[in-house]
Amino acid sequence: MTTKTYKRKSGRKNDELRSPILAKVGIIPNADGSAMFQIGETIAIAGVYGPKKMHPQHSQNPSKGTLRCTYNMNSFSVEDRIRPGPSRRSTEISKITEWALEPVLMIDKFPNMVIDVHINIIQADAGTRCAGINAAAMALAHAGIPMKDMVSSVAVGKMDKTIVLDLDKYEDSEFEDGEGSTDIPVSMTHAGEITHLQLDGKIKPEQLKEAIEMAKKACDEIYEVQKKALKDSLNFGGEK
Ligand code: CDP
Repeated sequence: MTTKTYKRKSGRKNDELRSPILAKVGIIPNADGSAMFQIGETIAIAGVYGPKKMHPQHSQNPSKGTLRCTYNMNSFSVEDRIRPGPSRRSTEISKITEWALEPVLMIDKFPNMVIDVHINIIQADAGTRCAGINAAAMALAHAGIPMKDMVSSVAVGKMDKTIVLDLDKYEDSEFEDGEGSTDIPVSMTHAGEITHLQLDGKIKPEQLKEAIEMAKKACDEIYEVQKKALKDSLNFGGEK
């Protein structure tokens, strides 16, 4: 069956983020910085440890620090329990998270040091890499790591021929009508510079442009939530 215009099962508008969108900073007392980010049924937590001396010594970089992200999806985060431990998928997402965040970090201030970011997905309903990046960006700011800008992340996608925002698990993995679904996770700075974009599927250049515009507006919304959570952690709650 080919659907001309995809109608979302959830009733959301094509450019509507899932709700609730919740963020909290300072959730792990033992970490140097921490945050949680929830969008719909997807929940990520991130803890930052460091900067600290990189060990072993031969891994030290004398010209800049190292951002080391570890993404982990907890076994209980999905209905079919996930085998604990690293996988090809988690290794890939960890690398992508580093690439998405490093452009805003003033990492050259920390030669021979490492900043460890541990991201745990405690509930997953698609969009977990984006939720993890949103949590990690706040946790890095909370840890006091100098940053040039914030990073916000969201997935856009194409359901058959229709561009939609913030795919849920059904839209991401189960929808097969027409051209099926294409998931496009995007991360960007508040200034609008893209630091990460993944695209595995076919899309026309003009539709990709439309998708990126949609992601940009959504990232602005997510940025406001991140900013408020960071302000609230400094007891400036309520102020804009
Ligand atoms: O989570 P994200 O969209 O960034 O990555 P994905 O690899 O496209 O995974 C989409 C969704 O599939 C996840 O968020 C989970 O809800 C689900 N998934 C799962 O149930 N079991 C896995 N081993 C991997 C993913």
